[in-house]
This record gives sequence, C-alpha cells and structure tokens, in this order.
Amino acid sequence: MSDTSQPLDDSNENEKRPQFGTRLLKDNADVFKHNAWDHVEWDAEQELAAQAAVEKNSTVKMSEDQRARFQLDAPKFWDSFYGIHDNRFFKDRHWLFTEFPELAPMANNEHSQPRSIFELGCGVGNTILPILQYSTESQLRVYGCDFSERAIEILRSQPQYDDKRCEVFVMDATQEHWQVPFEENSQDIIVMIFVLSAIEPSKMQHVLENCYRYLKPGGLLVFRDYGRYDLAQLRFKSGKCLEDNFYVRGDGTMVYFFTEQELRSMLTQAGLVEEQLLVDRRLQVNRGRCLKMYRVWIQTKFRKPL
Ligand SMILES: C[S@@+](CC[C@H](N)C(=O)[O-])C[C@H]1O[C@@H](n2cnc3c(N)ncnc32)[C@H](O)[C@@H]1O
Repeated sequence: MSDTSQPLDDSNENEKRPQFGTRLLKDNADVFKHNAWDHVEWDAEQELAAQAAVEKNSTVKMSEDQRARFQLDAPKFWDSFYGIHDNRFFKDRHWLFTEFPELAPMANNEHSQPRSIFELGCGVGNTILPILQYSTESQLRVYGCDFSERAIEILRSQPQYDDKRCEVFVMDATQEHWQVPFEENSQDIIVMIFVLSAIEPSKMQHVLENCYRYLKPGGLLVFRDYGRYDLAQLRFKSGKCLEDNFYVRGDGTMVYFFTEQELRSMLTQAGLVEEQLLVDRRLQVNRGRCLKMYRVWIQTKFRKPL
C-alpha cells in the first residue's frame, strides 16, 4: 500500500455491510478478527502521528508552473485514468442506498411526484447506474456530468444506461456558468461523491454556489469525500503536495482531504443548511499481511431552504 501512483482502491469500502456503524471495535485484541471496523476512535498519539506525517509530506510544495499544468490538464489526466481502468475502479457501492436513502428507489404509485437528480463528476456511473437499475419511478429524471469525455463515453455504453430517463454530458464543474440541460432551481437532489476533492480548493466555493443555484428550494445536496488524515493522505511522499492538504497522485489526478469545519463553512456560505455532517473513521484490516489501514471519509447532507 505504499504506491501513490494510483488512487487507493476503495473497493474494500464497497464491502457488503449490513449497515453503517454496526461493527464496533471495543477491544484491540479483536482487531484482526474482521476485515473492517466502523467508527474507530483515534487517540491523541495517533492524531499526532498523522499530523507529523502530513507535515513531512507537505513541507515541500510544487512550483506554480507544475501546479498550473496539473490544473490545466486535469481532464486529460482523468481521461487517461479512465482509459486504463475503464469502469473497474470506484466499483459499485453497496453503501449507496443505506447512506443515502434519498437516492434509493421510491415506490411508483399514482401519487409519485416527478423527481430530478443531478450528479456532478459522475465518472463512469457508479451512482447513476444503480439508481437507473433499481428505480421504477416513471417520473424520475437523472442527469450527470463529468469533465472526462472518456468517462462519459464509458457510462453511455453501459447496458444499464437508459437515455429515456437519463442524460449525461461533458462539463467542467468549475466553469463560471454551467451549460446544463435543466433550469435553475430545478433539481431535487445534487450528488457529489469523491469529486470536490479533485477540484482545486480556490474553485470549490464557486462549484457549491452553482449547486445551490440549480437545486430546487427544499432540494438536497448529498456529499461523500476524503477526510483529513485518511490513509491516502498519509502515504503521499514528499514532493507531491500542491498546497496544504491538496496533492497530486502519480497519474496526475489531484486530491484534497477535508475537515468537517471546512465543509460546514463552505456549504453554509453557499446558502445551504446542515442536515448531516459526519466523519466516517473506519479501520480496514488486511489479515493476511497484518496491516491496519485507517480510512477517513466525510459525509454530508445540506438542504437549500424553502
Ligand atoms: C474520484 S472520481 C469519482 C467519480 C464518481 N463520482 C464515483 O464516485 O465513482 C472523480 C471524478 O470527478 C471528475 N472531475 C474532477 N474534476 C472535475 C471538474 N472540474 N468537473 C467535472 N468533473 C470533474 C473526474 O473526471 C472523475 O470522474
């Protein structure tokens, strides 16, 4: 797990779990009895060790020129990523509908209301495809955008893709004015899963403000992404840091690691109201290699006021 050339394979995260937070580690002697433990507590020593690792790998920052290149060519780096991994990375997520029941299929009856869901940075459809696959709502409309043309091509070519209910398109979410096939104030749900972290920090607020603009009053922004001191952050080598907590991987894709406070502040400043903000600290165990891997993800749900 020392190679930083690729994003960490989050496939363990996709393990079938009955529900978030059901297997709690009470005694360290138990640690290698299972592959994953939810809600693990970090003690002061572990927090300090994580701080020290981050200080070490972020003391040297990349030059302005290098930084500009990674930002300018970001869509190309993601295109290459999908050229190599096709739809095999960021695999289907069994946690999707338990963590975000708002995305789960709704009963289709005569009272069902039209619903519209938009995913930013949808990649090859790890969220959109299960929604299309399981939903029987006749009035559901799903949209997705990604700035990687390759990702959108792959998504459109999947057998579960259904262009009668879904429209996906290439768009850079950081652009000033979004070119989208729907009106402002029109989306019931906007989904951002492991995408804000790929965007340079100075543009994040603008992206969230555009989300606010396109959400319906009463609409919900659901979000999941990397948290500060996640294993993926700690294992970066020196020389990969673009700015504090923002790094470039060996394949040229960029990644930021958030704190709760940063997200609360940005989302609130965008005009959204907090409904959920949790840090999911999980311990994944490689029993064969006696390895303990501490993962940190942040999950939020923020609503646009009526
Ligand atoms: C870590 S992947 C996650 C993909 C998908 N959300 C998932 O969960 O499988 C990040 C995605 O964000 C896309 N992305 C990064 N920056 C973007 C931007 N500025 N505009 C649109 N898409 C972007 C990348 O192309 C990539 O597909």
